[in-house]
Amino acid sequence: MAKVKKIYYCQHCGARYSQWMGQCPSCKKWNTIVEEVVSKRDLKQDVPLHSISPAQAFSLGEINTTQTRRISTGNKELDLVLGGGLVPGSVILLGGEPGIGKSTLMLQTALQIPHKVLYISGEESPEQIAMRASRLGFDNPKLKILPQTHLQKIFPVIEAEKPEILVIDSIQTLYTDHVESAPGSVSQIRETAAELIKLAKQSGIPVFIIGHITKEGYIAGPKVLEHMVDTVLQFEGDRHHQYRILRSLKNRFGSTHEIGIFEMTSKGLETVENPSGVLFREQYDQYSGTAAGVIVEGMRTLIVETQALVSPAVYGTPQRSVTGYDPKRLNMILAVLEKKAGYRLSAQDVFVNIAGGFRITDPGLDLAVAAAILSSVENKVIPPQSAWTGEIGLTGEIRPVSHVEKRIAEAGKNGFEVIYLSAHHKLENQVNDLKIRSLSNISELASLLKR
Ligand code: TYD
Ligand code: MG
Repeated sequence: MAKVKKIYYCQHCGARYSQWMGQCPSCKKWNTIVEEVVSKRDLKQDVPLHSISPAQAFSLGEINTTQTRRISTGNKELDLVLGGGLVPGSVILLGGEPGIGKSTLMLQTALQIPHKVLYISGEESPEQIAMRASRLGFDNPKLKILPQTHLQKIFPVIEAEKPEILVIDSIQTLYTDHVESAPGSVSQIRETAAELIKLAKQSGIPVFIIGHITKEGYIAGPKVLEHMVDTVLQFEGDRHHQYRILRSLKNRFGSTHEIGIFEMTSKGLETVENPSGVLFREQYDQYSGTAAGVIVEGMRTLIVETQALVSPAVYGTPQRSVTGYDPKRLNMILAVLEKKAGYRLSAQDVFVNIAGGFRITDPGLDLAVAAAILSSVENKVIPPQSAWTGEIGLTGEIRPVSHVEKRIAEAGKNGFEVIYLSAHHKLENQVNDLKIRSLSNISELASLLKR
């Protein structure tokens, strides 16, 4: 007889408690703890996860690594982010805000990949999926759609169909008999994910799991889900812009710095051949308050247009508004400009925006942000055809960046005439047609942009 009991789960971090509390002691979030009714099988019946091999220890030499061959997904960017293709038996969580294009990416992959795919949809009807597929313009006769959310009804279909790849759209709609709470609750998500992971490990079928993201940017449901799967991919971008970034946040089979860049078109997601070319406008250097930053994300070098607007604060407390860049770094740059270059920015509203809806994590963008801010303050356009790369330190020095040669090459390739960077690099004055200008500290930047 199954035992029924009430458990309280934090919807944010997945911690479990025997009673309700206003604040989660584990992650310190308020009002995230909810009651869930859990009726579990006898724990003895539970097969442990990863029970694929007998209890026996191996020395490394005995393990056959040729088994970990990779399956290409037929999508260059997705393969890159996965670390060179799909690993058999791996479980990949694809997170992203509603409407960003997760189902489109997965359906498109399912249509392009030359393998047998079972697409389990709890969100859309087969008709909707077929309509979307015809819009995408691909056809995979080996693709099967299963509109089902009950996990115990899904397993027999998997057994009968023997797919080579499984897609779950989405984990929040699935439920298992082993837990009584509603689909989308922490215990359901945790249990259904555990059963899917067990299936992947035992059968070697790679499983893509789509998961929605909450307003705060976390994969809805427990954070523990991220610990359970092999790879966590996040699909991001601005729904109002056409560009999307696929970022890997965790990858047991590859680097976590890779990004994939897509453009959402009327025929689905297309890969972007020269991302730098789309991220800055040709004549951006005719306006004050913009600078082209050269950044590196993963293996990629990109040039992004950085815009800033500085204007006197209307209200007592000046606003700091930033999209696509770390607000803490912006505050740091503003403090450095105030203290080391004598700009009174504490009474000014400051807006910073990365064009195209991209979110940049490379601190090498600091110099472009500072240049855009000073250009706006002085109302003076930056030197024509100039690119900027460098990190700003608390002392006001312009610090060197990684992969400086790649950045210089990217600026040259995109037709820039001059690149400003840290004096620490000790580079020649000219590389091919590109002039190199070194800056040691923020005061040198300020005098360059002074009216
Ligand atoms: P969708 O994949 O349904 O998002 P998610 O599964 O993450 O919720 O993406 C839906 C959006 O993508 C929708 O606003 C329409 C747009 N879209 C296109 O622009 N072109 C296309 O070819 C397709 C299929 C969708
Ligand atoms: Mg969807």
